[in-house]
Amino acid sequence: MRVLIVGGGGREHAIAIGLSSSPSVTSIHTSPGNAGTRSLGTNHDIGSSDIDGLVGLSIEIQADLVVVGPEAPLVLGLADKLRENGIPCFGPHSGGAMLEGSKLHAKKTMLELGVPTGSCQVIKDVEDIPKFLDSFHSPWVIKRDVLAGGKGVTVTSDRIAAEHALSSALEEDGIVLMEEHLDGEEASVLIVMDETGFVCLPPSQDHKRAFDNDMGPNTGGMGAYAPAPVVSPSVMERILDEVVEPMHHHLRNQETPYRGCLYAGLMIDENGAPRVIEFNVRFGDPETQVTVPLIDSDLGQLLLAAAEGSLSSIEPSFSGMSAATVVLASKGYPESPKLGGLISGSETSIDEGETVGMVHYAGTSLREGVLVSSGGRVLAATGVAPTLEGAVSTAYEIIDNVDLDGSHYRSDIGHRALKR
Ligand code: AMP
Ligand code: GLY
Repeated sequence: MRVLIVGGGGREHAIAIGLSSSPSVTSIHTSPGNAGTRSLGTNHDIGSSDIDGLVGLSIEIQADLVVVGPEAPLVLGLADKLRENGIPCFGPHSGGAMLEGSKLHAKKTMLELGVPTGSCQVIKDVEDIPKFLDSFHSPWVIKRDVLAGGKGVTVTSDRIAAEHALSSALEEDGIVLMEEHLDGEEASVLIVMDETGFVCLPPSQDHKRAFDNDMGPNTGGMGAYAPAPVVSPSVMERILDEVVEPMHHHLRNQETPYRGCLYAGLMIDENGAPRVIEFNVRFGDPETQVTVPLIDSDLGQLLLAAAEGSLSSIEPSFSGMSAATVVLASKGYPESPKLGGLISGSETSIDEGETVGMVHYAGTSLREGVLVSSGGRVLAATGVAPTLEGAVSTAYEIIDNVDLDGSHYRSDIGHRALKR
Protein backbone atom coordinates (compact mmCIF):
# COMPACT_ATOMS: atom_id res chain seq x y z
CA MET A 1 0.00 0.00 0.00
CA ARG A 2 0.88 3.63 -0.50
CA VAL A 3 1.03 5.53 2.79
CA LEU A 4 1.01 9.26 3.47
CA ILE A 5 2.45 10.34 6.83
CA VAL A 6 1.43 13.83 8.00
CA GLY A 7 4.01 15.75 10.05
CA GLY A 8 7.71 16.49 10.12
CA GLY A 9 9.18 15.51 13.48
CA GLY A 10 11.20 12.65 14.94
CA ARG A 11 7.93 10.81 15.55
CA GLU A 12 7.13 10.87 11.83
CA HIS A 13 10.63 9.68 10.92
CA ALA A 14 10.24 6.78 13.37
CA ILE A 15 6.87 5.88 11.81
CA ALA A 16 8.44 6.09 8.33
CA ILE A 17 11.28 3.74 9.38
CA GLY A 18 8.72 1.30 10.81
CA LEU A 19 6.64 1.42 7.64
CA SER A 20 9.70 1.05 5.42
CA SER A 21 10.26 -2.43 6.84
CA SER A 22 6.58 -3.40 6.63
CA PRO A 23 5.92 -5.99 3.91
CA SER A 24 2.48 -4.41 3.34
CA VAL A 25 3.93 -1.01 2.40
CA THR A 26 5.20 -0.25 -1.10
CA SER A 27 5.73 3.50 -0.95
CA ILE A 28 5.97 6.22 1.68
CA HIS A 29 5.04 9.88 1.25
CA THR A 30 5.48 12.44 4.02
CA SER A 31 4.21 15.99 4.28
CA PRO A 32 6.08 18.11 5.14
CA GLY A 33 8.60 15.50 6.36
CA ASN A 34 12.23 16.21 7.14
CA ALA A 35 15.75 15.19 6.12
CA GLY A 36 15.15 11.67 7.49
CA THR A 37 11.83 10.89 5.79
CA ARG A 38 13.27 12.19 2.52
CA SER A 39 15.59 9.22 2.28
CA LEU A 40 12.70 6.76 2.70
CA GLY A 41 10.24 8.15 0.18
CA THR A 42 8.85 11.42 -1.14
CA ASN A 43 8.49 14.62 0.90
CA HIS A 44 5.71 17.04 -0.05
CA ASP A 45 5.54 20.67 0.98
CA ILE A 46 2.00 20.86 2.33
CA GLY A 47 1.96 21.92 5.97
CA SER A 48 0.30 19.70 8.54
CA SER A 49 -2.53 22.19 9.23
CA ASP A 50 -3.54 22.66 5.57
CA ILE A 51 -6.49 20.26 5.66
CA ASP A 52 -7.76 20.78 2.10
CA GLY A 53 -4.21 20.60 0.76
CA LEU A 54 -3.58 17.29 2.56
CA VAL A 55 -6.88 15.77 1.38
CA GLY A 56 -6.02 16.83 -2.19
CA LEU A 57 -2.55 15.30 -1.87
CA SER A 58 -3.97 12.02 -0.52
CA ILE A 59 -6.30 11.79 -3.51
CA GLU A 60 -3.55 12.77 -5.98
CA ILE A 61 -1.09 10.13 -4.79
CA GLN A 62 -3.92 7.58 -4.30
CA ALA A 63 -3.01 6.96 -0.68
CA ASP A 64 -4.32 3.69 0.75
CA LEU A 65 -3.67 4.93 4.28
CA VAL A 66 -2.96 8.31 5.90
CA VAL A 67 -1.15 8.30 9.25
CA VAL A 68 -1.48 11.59 11.11
CA GLY A 69 1.40 12.48 13.46
CA PRO A 70 0.46 15.78 15.15
CA GLU A 71 -2.78 16.74 16.93
CA ALA A 72 -3.61 20.02 15.14
CA PRO A 73 -4.83 18.48 11.84
CA LEU A 74 -6.96 15.98 13.80
CA VAL A 75 -8.65 18.75 15.80
CA LEU A 76 -9.16 20.62 12.51
CA GLY A 77 -11.01 17.64 11.01
CA LEU A 78 -8.49 15.97 8.67
CA ALA A 79 -9.67 12.44 9.56
CA ASP A 80 -13.33 13.39 9.00
CA LYS A 81 -12.57 14.76 5.52
CA LEU A 82 -10.37 11.83 4.50
CA ARG A 83 -13.06 9.35 5.54
CA GLU A 84 -15.68 11.34 3.58
CA ASN A 85 -13.42 10.68 0.59
CA GLY A 86 -13.12 6.97 1.37
CA ILE A 87 -9.48 7.18 2.49
CA PRO A 88 -8.59 5.23 5.67
CA CYS A 89 -7.00 7.52 8.28
CA PHE A 90 -5.02 6.52 11.36
CA GLY A 91 -6.11 9.27 13.76
CA PRO A 92 -9.48 10.13 15.29
CA HIS A 93 -12.23 12.37 13.93
CA SER A 94 -12.43 15.96 15.20
CA GLY A 95 -14.89 15.08 17.98
CA GLY A 96 -12.55 12.36 19.32
CA ALA A 97 -9.59 14.73 19.02
CA MET A 98 -11.22 17.08 21.54
CA LEU A 99 -9.76 14.86 24.27
CA GLU A 100 -6.55 16.70 23.48
CA GLY A 101 -8.06 19.89 22.01
CA SER A 102 -9.80 20.77 25.27
CA LYS A 103 -8.42 19.89 28.71
CA LEU A 104 -11.86 20.70 30.16
CA HIS A 105 -13.57 18.22 27.82
CA ALA A 106 -11.00 15.55 28.75
CA LYS A 107 -11.52 16.24 32.46
CA LYS A 108 -15.31 16.07 32.17
CA THR A 109 -15.04 12.77 30.27
CA MET A 110 -12.79 11.25 32.95
CA LEU A 111 -15.07 12.39 35.78
CA GLU A 112 -18.10 10.99 33.97
CA LEU A 113 -16.40 7.61 33.47
CA GLY A 114 -14.72 7.47 36.88
CA VAL A 115 -11.23 7.43 35.33
CA PRO A 116 -8.74 8.47 38.09
CA THR A 117 -7.33 11.99 37.61
CA GLY A 118 -6.50 15.10 39.66
CA SER A 119 -9.25 17.44 40.86
CA CYS A 120 -9.69 20.61 38.89
CA GLN A 121 -11.36 24.02 38.97
CA VAL A 122 -12.41 26.22 36.07
CA ILE A 123 -11.60 29.92 36.43
CA LYS A 124 -13.37 32.51 34.30
CA ASP A 125 -12.98 35.66 36.39
CA VAL A 126 -9.67 37.42 37.21
CA GLU A 127 -11.05 38.37 40.62
CA ASP A 128 -11.26 34.69 41.60
CA ILE A 129 -7.51 34.10 41.10
CA PRO A 130 -6.37 34.75 44.72
CA LYS A 131 -9.14 32.53 46.09
CA PHE A 132 -8.12 29.58 43.92
CA LEU A 133 -4.41 30.09 44.60
CA ASP A 134 -5.28 29.80 48.30
CA SER A 135 -7.42 26.70 47.89
CA PHE A 136 -4.84 24.70 45.85
CA HIS A 137 -1.42 24.05 47.34
CA SER A 138 1.90 24.96 45.76
CA PRO A 139 3.16 23.81 43.27
CA TRP A 140 0.30 25.15 41.24
CA VAL A 141 -0.69 23.45 37.97
CA ILE A 142 -2.27 25.80 35.44
CA LYS A 143 -3.62 24.59 32.11
CA ARG A 144 -4.92 26.58 29.16
CA ASP A 145 -8.01 25.08 27.52
CA VAL A 146 -6.72 25.41 23.96
CA LEU A 147 -4.20 23.59 21.77
CA ALA A 148 -0.98 25.37 22.67
CA GLY A 149 1.62 23.20 20.95
CA GLY A 150 2.84 21.74 24.23
CA LYS A 151 3.18 25.18 25.86
CA GLY A 152 -0.19 25.41 27.57
CA VAL A 153 0.80 24.01 30.97
CA THR A 154 2.56 25.87 33.80
CA VAL A 155 3.73 24.03 36.91
CA THR A 156 5.24 26.45 39.43
CA SER A 157 5.82 27.05 43.12
CA ASP A 158 6.20 30.78 42.53
CA ARG A 159 2.90 32.51 43.37
CA ILE A 160 3.67 35.54 41.17
CA ALA A 161 4.42 33.26 38.19
CA ALA A 162 1.21 31.32 38.88
CA GLU A 163 -0.81 34.57 39.02
CA HIS A 164 0.76 35.69 35.77
CA ALA A 165 0.04 32.37 34.00
CA LEU A 166 -3.58 32.48 35.19
CA SER A 167 -4.23 36.08 34.23
CA SER A 168 -2.55 35.89 30.83
CA ALA A 169 -4.50 32.69 29.98
CA LEU A 170 -7.74 34.41 31.06
CA GLU A 171 -6.92 37.41 28.90
CA GLU A 172 -6.21 35.21 25.85
CA ASP A 173 -8.86 32.51 26.24
CA GLY A 174 -11.46 33.76 28.76
CA ILE A 175 -11.07 30.48 30.70
CA VAL A 176 -8.27 28.62 32.50
CA LEU A 177 -8.01 25.45 34.58
CA MET A 178 -6.22 24.96 37.87
CA GLU A 179 -5.45 21.34 38.68
CA GLU A 180 -4.41 19.41 41.77
CA HIS A 181 -0.65 18.70 41.68
CA LEU A 182 -0.04 14.96 41.38
CA ASP A 183 3.02 13.32 42.95
CA GLY A 184 4.78 10.23 41.68
CA GLU A 185 6.53 9.05 38.56
CA GLU A 186 5.23 9.78 35.06
CA ALA A 187 4.66 7.17 32.35
CA SER A 188 3.13 7.18 28.90
CA VAL A 189 0.95 4.41 27.54
CA LEU A 190 0.15 4.56 23.83
CA ILE A 191 -2.99 2.63 22.93
CA VAL A 192 -3.83 1.81 19.32
CA MET A 193 -7.61 1.47 19.18
CA ASP A 194 -10.73 1.23 17.10
CA GLU A 195 -14.27 0.06 17.81
CA THR A 196 -13.26 -3.61 17.64
CA GLY A 197 -10.36 -3.65 20.08
CA PHE A 198 -7.16 -2.07 21.38
CA VAL A 199 -3.44 -2.81 21.57
CA CYS A 200 -1.16 -1.19 24.20
CA LEU A 201 2.39 -0.48 23.06
CA PRO A 202 5.16 -1.07 25.65
CA PRO A 203 4.89 1.63 28.39
CA SER A 204 7.46 4.39 28.09
CA GLN A 205 8.77 7.35 30.05
CA ASP A 206 9.45 10.80 28.61
CA HIS A 207 11.83 13.38 30.13
CA LYS A 208 9.92 16.67 29.95
CA ARG A 209 12.37 19.10 31.54
CA ALA A 210 15.11 20.69 29.45
CA PHE A 211 18.10 19.83 31.64
CA ASP A 212 19.60 16.99 33.69
CA ASN A 213 18.01 16.07 37.03
CA ASP A 214 14.65 17.31 35.71
CA MET A 215 15.70 20.95 35.96
CA GLY A 216 14.75 23.83 33.70
CA PRO A 217 11.60 24.55 31.72
CA ASN A 218 9.11 21.99 30.37
CA THR A 219 9.75 20.96 26.78
CA GLY A 220 8.07 18.76 24.19
CA GLY A 221 10.30 15.94 25.52
CA MET A 222 14.08 15.57 25.71
CA GLY A 223 14.33 11.80 25.60
CA ALA A 224 12.49 8.61 26.44
CA TYR A 225 12.87 4.92 27.04
CA ALA A 226 10.73 1.80 26.95
CA PRO A 227 9.64 -0.37 28.56
CA ALA A 228 9.41 1.77 31.71
CA PRO A 229 9.73 -0.45 34.82
CA VAL A 230 7.54 1.94 36.86
CA VAL A 231 4.72 0.28 34.92
CA SER A 232 5.14 -3.15 36.49
CA PRO A 233 2.73 -5.93 35.47
CA SER A 234 0.45 -5.10 38.43
CA VAL A 235 0.51 -1.36 37.64
CA MET A 236 -0.30 -2.19 34.00
CA GLU A 237 -3.25 -4.26 35.18
CA ARG A 238 -4.59 -1.25 37.08
CA ILE A 239 -4.03 1.02 34.06
CA LEU A 240 -5.99 -1.41 31.90
CA ASP A 241 -8.86 -1.74 34.42
CA GLU A 242 -9.11 1.88 35.49
CA VAL A 243 -8.10 3.85 32.39
CA VAL A 244 -7.84 1.92 29.13
CA GLU A 245 -10.95 -0.23 29.31
CA PRO A 246 -13.37 2.53 30.42
CA MET A 247 -11.95 4.90 27.77
CA HIS A 248 -12.16 2.24 25.06
CA HIS A 249 -15.72 1.32 26.03
CA HIS A 250 -16.68 5.00 25.87
CA LEU A 251 -14.90 5.78 22.58
CA ARG A 252 -16.03 2.66 20.74
CA ASN A 253 -19.66 3.52 21.46
CA GLN A 254 -19.59 7.06 20.07
CA GLU A 255 -21.57 7.75 16.91
CA THR A 256 -18.24 7.95 15.09
CA PRO A 257 -15.82 5.49 16.70
CA TYR A 258 -12.30 6.48 17.66
CA ARG A 259 -9.68 5.05 15.31
CA GLY A 260 -6.05 5.86 16.01
CA CYS A 261 -3.77 6.22 19.03
CA LEU A 262 -4.95 7.32 22.45
CA TYR A 263 -1.95 8.47 24.49
CA ALA A 264 -2.47 8.29 28.23
CA GLY A 265 -0.03 10.52 30.15
CA LEU A 266 -0.06 9.06 33.67
CA MET A 267 1.26 9.76 37.14
CA ILE A 268 1.95 6.57 39.10
CA ASP A 269 1.99 7.13 42.86
CA GLU A 270 4.11 5.26 45.40
CA ASN A 271 1.39 2.63 45.84
CA GLY A 272 1.25 1.94 42.13
CA ALA A 273 -2.04 3.80 41.63
CA PRO A 274 -2.30 5.47 38.21
CA ARG A 275 -3.91 8.87 37.62
CA VAL A 276 -4.30 10.52 34.23
CA ILE A 277 -2.42 13.79 33.69
CA GLU A 278 -3.57 14.22 30.13
CA PHE A 279 -4.82 12.44 27.04
CA ASN A 280 -3.30 13.03 23.63
CA VAL A 281 -4.96 11.77 20.48
CA ARG A 282 -1.80 10.75 18.63
CA PHE A 283 1.52 9.02 19.10
CA GLY A 284 3.92 10.80 21.47
CA ASP A 285 7.15 12.47 20.47
CA PRO A 286 9.70 11.14 21.54
CA GLU A 287 7.76 8.09 22.87
CA THR A 288 7.20 6.85 19.29
CA GLN A 289 10.95 6.65 18.73
CA VAL A 290 11.21 4.09 21.56
CA THR A 291 7.99 2.11 21.04
CA VAL A 292 7.60 1.67 17.28
CA PRO A 293 11.06 0.00 16.98
CA LEU A 294 9.86 -2.61 19.51
CA ILE A 295 7.00 -3.75 17.25
CA ASP A 296 8.10 -6.92 15.45
CA SER A 297 5.09 -7.43 13.22
CA ASP A 298 3.98 -5.37 10.19
CA LEU A 299 3.39 -1.76 11.36
CA GLY A 300 1.52 -0.84 8.15
CA GLN A 301 -0.95 -3.65 8.71
CA LEU A 302 -1.53 -2.61 12.35
CA LEU A 303 -2.19 1.05 11.50
CA LEU A 304 -4.41 0.17 8.52
CA ALA A 305 -6.46 -2.25 10.63
CA ALA A 306 -7.12 0.49 13.23
CA ALA A 307 -7.94 3.00 10.46
CA GLU A 308 -10.43 0.58 8.89
CA GLY A 309 -11.99 -0.69 12.12
CA SER A 310 -10.69 -4.26 11.96
CA LEU A 311 -8.09 -4.21 14.73
CA SER A 312 -9.50 -7.32 16.42
CA SER A 313 -8.31 -9.37 13.43
CA ILE A 314 -4.66 -8.43 14.10
CA GLU A 315 -2.30 -9.78 16.71
CA PRO A 316 0.83 -7.66 16.71
CA SER A 317 4.02 -9.02 18.26
CA PHE A 318 6.76 -7.20 20.14
CA SER A 319 10.48 -7.92 20.21
CA GLY A 320 10.92 -7.77 23.99
CA MET A 321 13.94 -5.47 23.53
CA SER A 322 14.52 -2.13 25.26
CA ALA A 323 14.87 1.23 23.54
CA ALA A 324 16.16 4.66 24.54
CA THR A 325 16.24 7.95 22.67
CA VAL A 326 18.16 11.15 23.41
CA VAL A 327 16.98 14.40 21.84
CA LEU A 328 19.46 16.99 20.57
CA ALA A 329 17.91 20.47 20.89
CA SER A 330 18.93 23.79 19.35
CA LYS A 331 20.63 26.45 21.41
CA GLY A 332 17.93 28.40 23.30
CA TYR A 333 15.31 25.62 23.12
CA PRO A 334 12.54 25.69 24.37
CA GLU A 335 12.21 29.49 24.82
CA SER A 336 13.85 30.82 21.65
CA PRO A 337 15.63 28.17 19.60
CA LYS A 338 18.35 29.34 17.24
CA LEU A 339 17.83 27.78 13.82
CA GLY A 340 19.92 27.38 10.67
CA GLY A 341 23.08 25.85 12.21
CA LEU A 342 25.18 23.27 10.34
CA ILE A 343 24.79 19.70 11.57
CA SER A 344 27.59 17.19 11.19
CA GLY A 345 28.30 13.67 12.41
CA SER A 346 24.68 12.49 12.27
CA GLU A 347 25.28 9.73 9.71
CA THR A 348 26.38 7.15 12.29
CA SER A 349 24.28 4.05 12.66
CA ILE A 350 25.01 0.92 14.66
CA ASP A 351 24.09 -2.61 13.66
CA GLU A 352 25.62 -5.22 15.93
CA GLY A 353 23.21 -8.13 15.83
CA GLU A 354 20.49 -7.48 18.38
CA THR A 355 21.85 -4.02 19.22
CA VAL A 356 21.00 -1.30 16.75
CA GLY A 357 21.33 2.47 16.82
CA MET A 358 19.92 5.09 14.51
CA VAL A 359 19.23 8.78 14.17
CA HIS A 360 15.63 10.01 14.07
CA TYR A 361 15.63 13.37 12.32
CA ALA A 362 13.24 16.12 13.47
CA GLY A 363 13.81 19.88 12.91
CA THR A 364 16.26 19.49 10.05
CA SER A 365 16.31 20.56 6.42
CA LEU A 366 18.73 20.66 3.53
CA ARG A 367 20.17 24.04 2.50
CA GLU A 368 21.94 23.69 -0.83
CA GLY A 369 22.54 20.05 -0.04
CA VAL A 370 23.87 20.75 3.46
CA LEU A 371 22.06 19.53 6.59
CA VAL A 372 20.94 22.43 8.82
CA SER A 373 18.73 22.78 11.90
CA SER A 374 15.20 24.08 11.31
CA GLY A 375 13.43 23.40 14.61
CA GLY A 376 13.83 23.37 18.38
CA ARG A 377 14.20 19.60 18.63
CA VAL A 378 16.68 18.81 15.87
CA LEU A 379 17.18 15.06 15.96
CA ALA A 380 17.28 12.16 18.35
CA ALA A 381 19.68 9.25 18.67
CA THR A 382 17.92 5.99 19.44
CA GLY A 383 19.36 2.70 20.66
CA VAL A 384 17.57 -0.65 20.71
CA ALA A 385 19.20 -3.50 22.65
CA PRO A 386 18.42 -6.53 24.82
CA THR A 387 18.85 -4.38 27.97
CA LEU A 388 18.00 -0.78 28.81
CA GLU A 389 21.66 -0.15 29.73
CA GLY A 390 22.66 -1.29 26.24
CA ALA A 391 20.00 0.86 24.59
CA VAL A 392 21.04 3.97 26.55
CA SER A 393 24.75 3.54 25.85
CA THR A 394 24.07 2.96 22.14
CA ALA A 395 22.00 6.16 21.93
CA TYR A 396 24.78 8.15 23.65
CA GLU A 397 27.45 6.59 21.42
CA ILE A 398 25.61 8.04 18.43
CA ILE A 399 24.68 11.45 19.84
CA ASP A 400 28.21 12.09 21.12
CA ASN A 401 29.33 12.22 17.48
CA VAL A 402 26.82 14.85 16.40
CA ASP A 403 27.96 18.43 16.16
CA LEU A 404 25.67 21.49 16.07
CA ASP A 405 26.91 24.76 17.50
CA GLY A 406 25.28 25.59 20.87
CA SER A 407 23.05 22.52 20.88
CA HIS A 408 22.26 20.63 24.08
CA TYR A 409 21.03 17.23 25.18
CA ARG A 410 20.37 15.57 28.50
CA SER A 411 22.99 13.16 29.80
CA ASP A 412 20.66 11.29 32.18
CA ILE A 413 18.04 9.67 29.96
CA GLY A 414 16.72 6.54 31.67
CA HIS A 415 18.06 7.54 35.11
CA ARG A 416 14.96 6.47 37.06
CA ALA A 417 14.89 3.01 35.50
CA LEU A 418 18.65 2.49 35.77
CA LYS A 419 18.59 3.36 39.50
CA ARG A 420 15.95 0.72 40.27
P1 AMP B 1 0.62 18.11 29.90
O1 AMP B 1 0.79 18.97 28.70
O2 AMP B 1 -0.78 18.13 30.47
O3 AMP B 1 1.22 16.75 29.73
O4 AMP B 1 1.57 18.73 31.02
C1 AMP B 1 2.94 18.87 30.81
C2 AMP B 1 3.70 18.34 31.99
O5 AMP B 1 3.37 19.09 33.15
C3 AMP B 1 3.37 16.90 32.36
O6 AMP B 1 4.10 15.98 31.61
C4 AMP B 1 3.78 16.87 33.81
O7 AMP B 1 5.18 16.75 33.95
C5 AMP B 1 3.37 18.24 34.28
N1 AMP B 1 2.00 18.19 34.84
C6 AMP B 1 0.84 18.43 34.20
N2 AMP B 1 -0.22 18.25 35.02
C7 AMP B 1 0.28 17.91 36.23
C8 AMP B 1 -0.30 17.59 37.50
N3 AMP B 1 -1.63 17.65 37.71
N4 AMP B 1 0.53 17.28 38.51
C9 AMP B 1 1.87 17.23 38.33
N5 AMP B 1 2.49 17.53 37.16
C10 AMP B 1 1.71 17.86 36.12
N1 GLY C 1 6.17 13.59 24.66
C1 GLY C 1 4.99 14.27 24.95
C2 GLY C 1 4.02 14.38 23.88
O1 GLY C 1 4.17 13.81 22.81
O2 GLY C 1 3.02 15.07 24.07
